[in-house]
Amino acid sequence: MSPRLVDLYPTAFVTGASTGLGRAFAEMLLSEGVRVWGTARDTSRLAPLAEQGNFQPVALELRDGVAAGQVFHQADQAAGGFALVINNAGYGVFGDFTTTEFAVWQEQLEVMLVHTARLSHAALRGMRARRQGALVNISSLAAEFPLPFQSAYNVAKAGLTALNESLMIETAGTGVIVLDVRPGDYRTDFEGAVRRPPGGTTPAMGRAWAAFRRLMESGPPPAHAAAALRRALLRRRSGTVRCGRFFQAVVAPLLARFGSLPLRRRIQASYFDLS
Ligand SMILES: NC(=O)c1ccc[n+]([C@@H]2O[C@H](COP(=O)([O-])OP(=O)(O)OC[C@H]3O[C@@H](n4cnc5c(N)ncnc54)[C@H](OP(=O)(O)O)[C@@H]3O)[C@@H](O)[C@H]2O)c1
Repeated sequence: MSPRLVDLYPTAFVTGASTGLGRAFAEMLLSEGVRVWGTARDTSRLAPLAEQGNFQPVALELRDGVAAGQVFHQADQAAGGFALVINNAGYGVFGDFTTTEFAVWQEQLEVMLVHTARLSHAALRGMRARRQGALVNISSLAAEFPLPFQSAYNVAKAGLTALNESLMIETAGTGVIVLDVRPGDYRTDFEGAVRRPPGGTTPAMGRAWAAFRRLMESGPPPAHAAAALRRALLRRRSGTVRCGRFFQAVVAPLLARFGSLPLRRRIQASYFDLS
């Protein structure tokens, strides 16, 4: 008989569980009987999950990495060491690199790469000592196909994917697995939460934004990504999980493997109405 998710991962920590993909991951885990610690900056946003039982709301703000590390440490101790940690929290900034304040650019990298790596570091230390567990970092297909006018996001996700690849090698044979999850466009609150710093919009930016919105709003629901994650966790092997609409998650990576980089850039530009 194949093992149940709850047997492999009785406890889980999920950042950004208030909405979107994180909430779908938390709901999927709760439906399997997993005890979930889920985070949001404002824990009142976690009320629908808390009503389901087996759920611990946790206040966590990733802009302060040291404080976030302490919050994780306390929850990890309360849980007796998490079997599964999903670093999911994140946000977008849409703006031209030169007109966006550098502090905005830097903060996005700190939240989505540096402090996410910090939580990965804390989580893996415990898992390595226990010789079991799964670390899941939610990257993006943007790590392979950069989104126009979202340079910090692209760098953060490419960096996170590189971290995941590094950790897969380091954890081989240790009993711990690492999943690099790269979603395509999903219908979440992400697009509504994207920050658009002042600095003027060019016609190219207008077209790219319209294409981005169209793709997000027509994407699959978050439960689709949760089902892909569930299947990957049950495989009990480190690896890459591309998920989303068929073209983005399957066709584009396949074409990219055989096409040249200039061709890839041209296709990417036309996908966002920029050619
Ligand atoms: N949707 C997509 O198409 C897509 C595609 C590829 C990758 N992703 C990635 O998937 C992850 C989830 O995105 P989503 O689409 O589900 O977005 P979402 O619906 O906007 O949810 C984002 C979550 O992150 C949390 N968050 C945002 N900024 C935070 C901060 N500074 N500190 C702590 N928590 C913070 C939010 O919690 P609060 O309640 O505190 O606001 C919320 O729970 C992100 O890493 C995103 O980059 C999404």
